[in-house]
Amino acid sequence: MDCPQGWPEQVVRVQALSDSGLMTIPDLYVKPPAERPSVGNGGDVTSDIPVIELGGLAEGAAECRATIRAVGDACSEWGFFQVVNHGVSPDLVARVREVWRAFFHLPMEEKQAYANDPKTYEGYGSRVGVEKGAILDWGDYFFLHLLPESIKNQNKWPALPSSCSRETVQEYADELAKLCGTLMKALSISLGLDVEQLQTAFGGDAVGACLRVNYYPRCPQPELTLGLSAHSDPGGLTILLADDCVNGLQVRRGDDWVTVQPIPGAFIVNVGDQIQVLSNAVYRSVEHRVVVNAAQERLSLAFFYNPRSDIAIAPVSKLVTPERPQLYRPMTFDEYRLYIRKKGPKGKSQVESLKAQSVN
Ligand code: OGA
Ligand code: NI
Repeated sequence: MDCPQGWPEQVVRVQALSDSGLMTIPDLYVKPPAERPSVGNGGDVTSDIPVIELGGLAEGAAECRATIRAVGDACSEWGFFQVVNHGVSPDLVARVREVWRAFFHLPMEEKQAYANDPKTYEGYGSRVGVEKGAILDWGDYFFLHLLPESIKNQNKWPALPSSCSRETVQEYADELAKLCGTLMKALSISLGLDVEQLQTAFGGDAVGACLRVNYYPRCPQPELTLGLSAHSDPGGLTILLADDCVNGLQVRRGDDWVTVQPIPGAFIVNVGDQIQVLSNAVYRSVEHRVVVNAAQERLSLAFFYNPRSDIAIAPVSKLVTPERPQLYRPMTFDEYRLYIRKKGPKGKSQVESLKAQSVN
Protein backbone atom coordinates (compact mmCIF):
# COMPACT_ATOMS: atom_id res chain seq x y z
CA MET A 1 0.00 0.00 0.00
CA ASP A 2 1.26 3.42 -0.84
CA CYS A 3 -0.04 6.92 -1.24
CA PRO A 4 -0.49 8.32 -4.74
CA GLN A 5 2.12 10.50 -6.36
CA GLY A 6 0.00 13.60 -6.82
CA TRP A 7 -2.84 15.62 -5.27
CA PRO A 8 -6.36 15.07 -6.66
CA GLU A 9 -6.92 18.78 -7.28
CA GLN A 10 -4.74 21.75 -8.00
CA VAL A 11 -3.11 22.97 -4.79
CA VAL A 12 -4.15 26.40 -3.57
CA ARG A 13 -2.05 28.11 -0.90
CA VAL A 14 -4.29 29.37 1.88
CA GLN A 15 -1.77 32.14 2.49
CA ALA A 16 -2.26 33.36 -1.08
CA LEU A 17 -6.04 33.32 -0.65
CA SER A 18 -5.74 35.26 2.59
CA ASP A 19 -3.32 37.77 1.07
CA SER A 20 -5.68 38.36 -1.86
CA GLY A 21 -7.95 40.18 0.60
CA LEU A 22 -11.11 38.25 -0.23
CA MET A 23 -14.06 38.86 2.12
CA THR A 24 -15.82 35.52 1.58
CA ILE A 25 -13.98 32.22 1.85
CA PRO A 26 -14.37 29.71 -1.01
CA ASP A 27 -16.94 26.91 -0.41
CA LEU A 28 -14.07 24.44 -0.35
CA TYR A 29 -13.20 25.67 3.17
CA VAL A 30 -16.71 25.97 4.58
CA LYS A 31 -17.27 23.22 7.14
CA PRO A 32 -20.65 21.53 7.63
CA PRO A 33 -22.56 23.31 10.45
CA ALA A 34 -21.85 20.54 13.01
CA GLU A 35 -18.09 21.00 12.63
CA ARG A 36 -17.96 24.78 12.89
CA PRO A 37 -16.11 26.40 15.79
CA SER A 38 -19.23 27.53 17.65
CA VAL A 39 -20.54 23.98 18.04
CA GLY A 40 -19.85 22.34 21.38
CA ASN A 41 -18.79 25.56 23.04
CA GLY A 42 -22.10 26.18 24.72
CA GLY A 43 -21.04 24.80 28.09
CA ASP A 44 -19.13 27.06 30.44
CA VAL A 45 -15.83 25.27 30.28
CA THR A 46 -13.50 27.16 32.53
CA SER A 47 -10.93 24.44 33.15
CA ASP A 48 -7.70 24.16 31.21
CA ILE A 49 -5.30 21.29 30.62
CA PRO A 50 -2.96 20.42 33.53
CA VAL A 51 0.40 22.20 33.88
CA ILE A 52 3.34 20.10 35.02
CA GLU A 53 6.62 21.38 36.39
CA LEU A 54 9.10 18.92 34.86
CA GLY A 55 11.98 20.08 37.03
CA GLY A 56 10.38 17.84 39.65
CA LEU A 57 11.86 14.79 37.88
CA ALA A 58 15.35 15.85 38.91
CA GLU A 59 14.41 16.54 42.55
CA GLY A 60 14.29 14.12 45.48
CA ALA A 61 12.45 10.80 45.32
CA ALA A 62 9.14 12.11 46.69
CA GLU A 63 9.06 15.06 44.30
CA CYS A 64 10.00 12.83 41.38
CA ARG A 65 7.24 10.34 42.21
CA ALA A 66 4.68 13.14 42.49
CA THR A 67 5.72 14.51 39.08
CA ILE A 68 5.44 11.09 37.45
CA ARG A 69 2.01 10.66 39.01
CA ALA A 70 0.92 14.04 37.68
CA VAL A 71 2.07 13.04 34.18
CA GLY A 72 0.17 9.75 34.40
CA ASP A 73 -3.02 11.43 35.66
CA ALA A 74 -2.86 14.00 32.86
CA CYS A 75 -2.44 11.23 30.25
CA SER A 76 -5.43 9.28 31.49
CA GLU A 77 -7.75 12.20 32.22
CA TRP A 78 -6.95 14.74 29.53
CA GLY A 79 -4.50 13.19 27.08
CA PHE A 80 -2.95 16.69 27.11
CA PHE A 81 -0.79 18.77 29.45
CA GLN A 82 1.61 21.70 29.39
CA VAL A 83 5.18 21.30 30.60
CA VAL A 84 7.23 24.10 32.13
CA ASN A 85 10.82 23.95 33.32
CA HIS A 86 11.43 21.39 30.58
CA GLY A 87 15.09 22.15 30.00
CA VAL A 88 14.89 23.36 26.36
CA SER A 89 16.62 26.72 26.04
CA PRO A 90 14.32 29.72 25.45
CA ASP A 91 16.88 31.10 23.03
CA LEU A 92 16.68 27.98 20.84
CA VAL A 93 12.88 28.12 20.93
CA ALA A 94 12.93 31.76 19.84
CA ARG A 95 15.37 30.99 17.01
CA VAL A 96 13.40 28.05 15.64
CA ARG A 97 10.20 30.11 15.65
CA GLU A 98 11.98 32.85 13.75
CA VAL A 99 13.35 30.37 11.19
CA TRP A 100 9.88 29.16 10.30
CA ARG A 101 8.16 32.52 10.45
CA ALA A 102 10.78 33.69 7.95
CA PHE A 103 10.04 30.72 5.70
CA PHE A 104 6.34 31.49 5.48
CA HIS A 105 7.11 35.12 4.77
CA LEU A 106 9.29 34.29 1.77
CA PRO A 107 7.90 35.20 -1.66
CA MET A 108 5.48 32.53 -2.91
CA GLU A 109 7.75 31.48 -5.82
CA GLU A 110 10.50 30.61 -3.37
CA LYS A 111 8.20 28.56 -1.18
CA GLN A 112 6.80 26.70 -4.20
CA ALA A 113 10.23 25.11 -4.78
CA TYR A 114 9.43 22.98 -1.70
CA ALA A 115 5.92 21.93 -2.75
CA ASN A 116 5.14 18.49 -1.31
CA ASP A 117 3.28 15.48 -2.65
CA PRO A 118 1.26 12.82 -0.83
CA LYS A 119 3.90 10.14 -1.32
CA THR A 120 6.13 11.43 1.51
CA TYR A 121 4.35 14.63 2.55
CA GLU A 122 7.74 16.24 3.00
CA GLY A 123 7.90 19.92 2.14
CA TYR A 124 5.42 22.77 1.73
CA GLY A 125 1.81 21.59 1.79
CA SER A 126 -1.75 22.85 2.00
CA ARG A 127 -3.81 19.71 2.59
CA VAL A 128 -3.68 16.31 4.25
CA GLY A 129 -5.62 13.56 2.49
CA VAL A 130 -6.14 12.78 -1.16
CA GLU A 131 -9.92 12.45 -1.39
CA LYS A 132 -11.27 14.44 -4.31
CA GLY A 133 -13.82 17.04 -3.28
CA ALA A 134 -12.88 16.99 0.43
CA ILE A 135 -13.55 20.15 2.46
CA LEU A 136 -10.13 21.61 3.25
CA ASP A 137 -8.61 23.30 6.29
CA TRP A 138 -7.58 26.95 6.51
CA GLY A 139 -3.85 26.40 6.87
CA ASP A 140 -0.56 25.69 5.11
CA TYR A 141 2.29 23.69 6.59
CA PHE A 142 5.84 22.48 6.15
CA PHE A 143 6.46 18.83 7.00
CA LEU A 144 9.78 17.11 7.42
CA HIS A 145 11.23 13.86 8.70
CA LEU A 146 13.91 14.21 11.34
CA LEU A 147 14.47 10.67 12.65
CA PRO A 148 15.66 8.05 12.02
CA GLU A 149 18.77 9.50 10.40
CA SER A 150 18.44 7.18 7.40
CA ILE A 151 15.23 8.75 6.10
CA LYS A 152 16.18 12.39 6.49
CA ASN A 153 15.97 14.36 3.28
CA GLN A 154 14.74 11.34 1.37
CA ASN A 155 13.13 13.36 -1.35
CA LYS A 156 15.99 15.83 -1.61
CA TRP A 157 14.42 19.22 -2.01
CA PRO A 158 16.61 22.19 -2.66
CA ALA A 159 18.51 23.19 0.46
CA LEU A 160 16.29 25.19 2.77
CA PRO A 161 16.63 28.92 2.14
CA SER A 162 19.50 30.51 4.01
CA SER A 163 17.02 32.17 6.37
CA CYS A 164 16.00 28.65 7.46
CA SER A 165 19.09 27.33 9.13
CA ARG A 166 19.01 23.54 9.03
CA GLU A 167 21.35 23.56 12.05
CA THR A 168 18.78 25.35 14.18
CA VAL A 169 16.08 22.89 13.12
CA GLN A 170 18.41 19.98 13.90
CA GLU A 171 19.36 21.39 17.28
CA TYR A 172 15.68 21.82 18.10
CA ALA A 173 14.92 18.25 16.98
CA ASP A 174 17.72 16.84 19.14
CA GLU A 175 16.48 18.73 22.21
CA LEU A 176 12.87 17.66 21.66
CA ALA A 177 13.84 14.03 21.08
CA LYS A 178 15.66 14.17 24.42
CA LEU A 179 12.61 15.65 26.13
CA CYS A 180 10.45 12.89 24.62
CA GLY A 181 12.91 10.28 25.92
CA THR A 182 12.39 11.69 29.43
CA LEU A 183 8.61 11.76 29.06
CA MET A 184 8.60 8.17 27.75
CA LYS A 185 10.33 7.07 30.97
CA ALA A 186 7.80 8.93 33.10
CA LEU A 187 4.91 7.40 31.14
CA SER A 188 6.42 3.93 31.40
CA ILE A 189 6.81 4.15 35.19
CA SER A 190 3.38 5.68 35.67
CA LEU A 191 1.84 2.75 33.75
CA GLY A 192 3.54 0.37 36.21
CA LEU A 193 6.03 -0.80 33.59
CA ASP A 194 9.83 -0.93 33.69
CA VAL A 195 11.38 2.45 33.07
CA GLU A 196 12.60 1.57 29.53
CA GLN A 197 9.68 -0.61 28.51
CA LEU A 198 7.69 1.93 26.51
CA GLN A 199 10.80 3.10 24.67
CA THR A 200 11.72 -0.51 23.89
CA ALA A 201 8.21 -1.10 22.53
CA PHE A 202 8.78 1.96 20.30
CA GLY A 203 11.85 0.30 18.79
CA GLY A 204 14.58 1.56 21.13
CA ASP A 205 16.97 3.93 19.41
CA ALA A 206 15.33 3.52 16.01
CA VAL A 207 12.32 5.71 16.78
CA GLY A 208 10.97 8.14 14.23
CA ALA A 209 10.37 11.86 14.52
CA CYS A 210 8.84 14.47 12.22
CA LEU A 211 8.07 18.14 12.41
CA ARG A 212 4.95 19.79 11.09
CA VAL A 213 5.15 23.56 11.07
CA ASN A 214 1.61 24.91 10.85
CA TYR A 215 0.91 28.32 9.38
CA TYR A 216 -2.66 29.58 9.78
CA PRO A 217 -3.22 32.79 7.79
CA ARG A 218 -5.80 35.38 8.80
CA CYS A 219 -9.30 34.32 7.78
CA PRO A 220 -12.15 36.71 6.92
CA GLN A 221 -14.84 34.21 8.09
CA PRO A 222 -13.30 32.22 10.94
CA GLU A 223 -16.72 31.10 12.19
CA LEU A 224 -17.22 28.96 9.07
CA THR A 225 -13.98 27.01 8.97
CA LEU A 226 -11.14 25.41 10.95
CA GLY A 227 -7.38 25.78 10.70
CA LEU A 228 -7.09 22.07 11.36
CA SER A 229 -10.08 19.72 11.59
CA ALA A 230 -10.68 17.57 14.64
CA HIS A 231 -8.20 14.70 14.77
CA SER A 232 -6.14 12.64 17.14
CA ASP A 233 -2.43 12.45 16.38
CA PRO A 234 -1.55 9.10 14.81
CA GLY A 235 1.94 8.87 16.37
CA GLY A 236 3.36 8.44 19.86
CA LEU A 237 3.89 11.74 21.65
CA THR A 238 3.39 15.23 20.26
CA ILE A 239 5.25 18.25 21.61
CA LEU A 240 3.59 21.42 20.39
CA LEU A 241 5.22 24.80 20.45
CA ALA A 242 2.14 26.99 20.20
CA ASP A 243 2.15 30.55 18.88
CA ASP A 244 3.47 32.97 21.49
CA CYS A 245 0.67 35.51 20.89
CA VAL A 246 -2.32 33.90 19.22
CA ASN A 247 -4.53 31.14 20.69
CA GLY A 248 -6.24 28.60 18.49
CA LEU A 249 -5.74 25.06 19.79
CA GLN A 250 -8.86 23.43 21.25
CA VAL A 251 -8.98 20.09 23.05
CA ARG A 252 -11.99 17.82 23.25
CA ARG A 253 -13.48 17.49 26.73
CA GLY A 254 -16.67 15.42 26.56
CA ASP A 255 -19.00 17.33 24.24
CA ASP A 256 -17.08 20.58 24.67
CA TRP A 257 -13.92 22.08 23.25
CA VAL A 258 -11.49 23.68 25.67
CA THR A 259 -9.32 26.47 24.27
CA VAL A 260 -5.77 25.98 25.50
CA GLN A 261 -4.09 29.07 27.00
CA PRO A 262 -0.39 28.42 26.44
CA ILE A 263 1.89 29.50 29.29
CA PRO A 264 4.85 31.55 28.02
CA GLY A 265 7.83 29.23 27.55
CA ALA A 266 5.79 26.04 27.94
CA PHE A 267 5.32 23.16 25.53
CA ILE A 268 1.98 21.42 25.07
CA VAL A 269 2.32 17.65 25.19
CA ASN A 270 -0.25 15.15 24.00
CA VAL A 271 -0.62 11.42 23.80
CA GLY A 272 -0.99 10.02 20.26
CA ASP A 273 -2.80 6.91 19.04
CA GLN A 274 0.30 4.67 19.36
CA ILE A 275 0.46 5.28 23.12
CA GLN A 276 -3.27 4.73 23.43
CA VAL A 277 -2.75 1.35 21.71
CA LEU A 278 0.38 0.37 23.71
CA SER A 279 -1.28 1.32 27.00
CA ASN A 280 -4.46 -0.60 26.03
CA ALA A 281 -6.37 2.70 26.37
CA VAL A 282 -5.17 3.50 29.91
CA TYR A 283 -3.77 6.66 28.33
CA ARG A 284 -5.93 8.51 25.85
CA SER A 285 -5.17 10.07 22.52
CA VAL A 286 -7.60 12.96 22.62
CA GLU A 287 -9.15 14.81 19.71
CA HIS A 288 -8.11 18.38 19.09
CA ARG A 289 -8.61 21.04 16.43
CA VAL A 290 -7.50 24.54 15.55
CA VAL A 291 -9.67 27.62 15.13
CA VAL A 292 -8.48 30.61 13.13
CA ASN A 293 -9.20 34.31 13.39
CA ALA A 294 -9.62 37.41 11.27
CA ALA A 295 -7.05 39.59 12.98
CA GLN A 296 -3.82 37.62 13.21
CA GLU A 297 -1.91 34.78 11.59
CA ARG A 298 -0.77 31.90 13.82
CA LEU A 299 2.35 29.74 13.71
CA SER A 300 2.82 26.47 15.60
CA LEU A 301 5.43 23.72 15.51
CA ALA A 302 4.26 20.16 16.16
CA PHE A 303 7.05 17.67 16.86
CA PHE A 304 5.89 14.08 16.51
CA TYR A 305 7.80 11.31 18.31
CA ASN A 306 6.81 8.02 16.72
CA PRO A 307 7.56 4.34 17.06
CA ARG A 308 9.98 2.75 14.64
CA SER A 309 7.82 2.47 11.56
CA ASP A 310 8.21 -1.24 10.72
CA ILE A 311 7.46 -2.98 14.00
CA ALA A 312 4.00 -4.05 15.09
CA ILE A 313 2.50 -1.91 17.85
CA ALA A 314 0.03 -3.70 20.15
CA PRO A 315 -1.02 -3.37 23.78
CA VAL A 316 1.79 -4.21 26.22
CA SER A 317 1.04 -7.66 27.68
CA LYS A 318 1.22 -6.42 31.28
CA LEU A 319 -1.69 -4.06 30.56
CA VAL A 320 -3.87 -6.82 29.16
CA THR A 321 -5.80 -8.53 31.95
CA PRO A 322 -9.03 -10.53 32.26
CA GLU A 323 -10.75 -7.30 33.40
CA ARG A 324 -9.18 -5.33 30.58
CA PRO A 325 -8.86 -7.54 27.50
CA GLN A 326 -6.68 -6.55 24.57
CA LEU A 327 -8.51 -3.71 22.83
CA TYR A 328 -6.46 -3.30 19.67
CA ARG A 329 -4.95 -5.53 17.06
CA PRO A 330 -1.28 -5.00 16.15
CA MET A 331 -0.29 -2.74 13.27
CA THR A 332 2.97 -1.13 12.13
CA PHE A 333 3.13 2.67 12.14
CA ASP A 334 3.99 2.59 8.42
CA GLU A 335 0.61 1.04 7.78
CA TYR A 336 -1.21 3.06 10.42
CA ARG A 337 -0.19 6.50 9.16
CA LEU A 338 -1.44 5.75 5.63
CA TYR A 339 -4.99 6.25 6.86
CA ILE A 340 -4.64 9.95 7.73
CA ARG A 341 -2.38 10.45 4.72
CA LYS A 342 -5.19 9.26 2.47
CA LYS A 343 -8.33 10.38 4.28
CA GLY A 344 -7.10 13.49 6.07
CA PRO A 345 -8.00 14.41 9.65
CA LYS A 346 -11.08 12.38 10.67
CA GLY A 347 -11.50 12.62 14.42
CA LYS A 348 -10.71 9.36 16.21
CA SER A 349 -12.08 7.09 13.52
CA GLN A 350 -8.85 5.25 12.86
CA VAL A 351 -8.00 4.12 16.36
CA GLU A 352 -11.67 3.19 16.78
CA SER A 353 -11.49 1.03 13.67
CA LEU A 354 -8.55 -0.93 15.12
CA LYS A 355 -10.90 -1.75 17.95
CA ALA A 356 -13.81 -2.77 15.76
CA GLN A 357 -11.61 -5.43 14.19
CA SER A 358 -10.25 -6.33 17.57
CA VAL A 359 -8.46 -9.55 18.38
CA ASN A 360 -11.26 -11.13 20.34
C1 OGA B 1 -1.05 19.08 14.67
C2 OGA B 1 -1.82 19.92 15.61
C3 OGA B 1 -2.15 22.06 16.68
C4 OGA B 1 -1.82 23.50 16.49
O1 OGA B 1 -0.22 19.64 13.92
O2 OGA B 1 -1.28 17.84 14.68
O3 OGA B 1 -2.69 19.41 16.25
O4 OGA B 1 -2.05 24.26 17.44
N1 OGA B 1 -1.51 21.23 15.71
O5 OGA B 1 -1.35 23.88 15.42
NI1 NI C 1 -2.58 17.25 16.20
